[in-house]
Amino acid sequence: MRLILLGAPGAGKGTQAAYICQKYGIPQISTGDMLRAAVKAGTPLGLEAKKVMDAGALVSDDIIIGLVKERIAQPDCTKGFLFDGFPRTIPQADAMKAAGVKLDIVLEIDVPDEAIVERMSGRRVHVASGRTYHVKYNPPKVAGKDDVTGEDLIQRDDDKEDTVKKRLAVYQSQTRPLVDYYSQWAATGDANAPKYRKISGLGSVEEITARALQALD
Ligand code: AP5
Ligand code: ZN
Repeated sequence: MRLILLGAPGAGKGTQAAYICQKYGIPQISTGDMLRAAVKAGTPLGLEAKKVMDAGALVSDDIIIGLVKERIAQPDCTKGFLFDGFPRTIPQADAMKAAGVKLDIVLEIDVPDEAIVERMSGRRVHVASGRTYHVKYNPPKVAGKDDVTGEDLIQRDDDKEDTVKKRLAVYQSQTRPLVDYYSQWAATGDANAPKYRKISGLGSVEEITARALQALD
């Protein structure tokens, strides 16, 4: 299974990716997690990416496409993979097409902007694993600690209200066009086109997981 999870910042891509990847036994490829790992490691890419991410803007297509091509060439991707937060521009989607990367399905998680700011402000993350919690909607067993390792959870630097608004605007202008890109491609009946499915991202985490797994079946 090779799939794309498409959706606005805070739609729940990372949260649902964990369940989907477990069910299908495939790796989660989150370009955001990869960039945050580079920031934490203090690599040249990380230093450059941090400025862009903190401003709520997008890292350059060339860098991201290079990272993803390298990642999907790894042996654990032969069974498939889940893209979380990639592609998020038309050039990134075109690069996958040009490279002949065949995708089975694009799953869009739809959440209205009003719900997003509250989700982001309560988000807490375990950086090493990418596991994501919410203080109210998806709390860890012990406040401030990761369920699996017991390590500290942090708040992401780009989850400040102003940055969230900027990220939503960037989503509308740069990423939302991919909804038409993939749904229209699917409608042509081209055998290379991934199927297109859309689910509502409103409701409990468990309800959305059930919807997602049904849509992928
Ligand atoms: P990235 O890490 O991809 O962030 P994003 O797309 O903005 O998405 P988020 O991670 O914020 O949200 P999510 O949908 O994963 O939601 P989550 O499950 O955490 O990218 C970060 C930055 O990196 C970008 O701004 C850009 O600079 C750069 N970047 C990354 N990829 C790039 C690319 N391809 N090209 C260029 N630049 C790139 O859930 C959010 C919160 O809601 C959590 O607290 C969660 O617990 C809670 N929640 C989840 N589900 C529910 C529910 N059903 N009800 C209530 N709360 C819920
Ligand atoms: Zn995420």
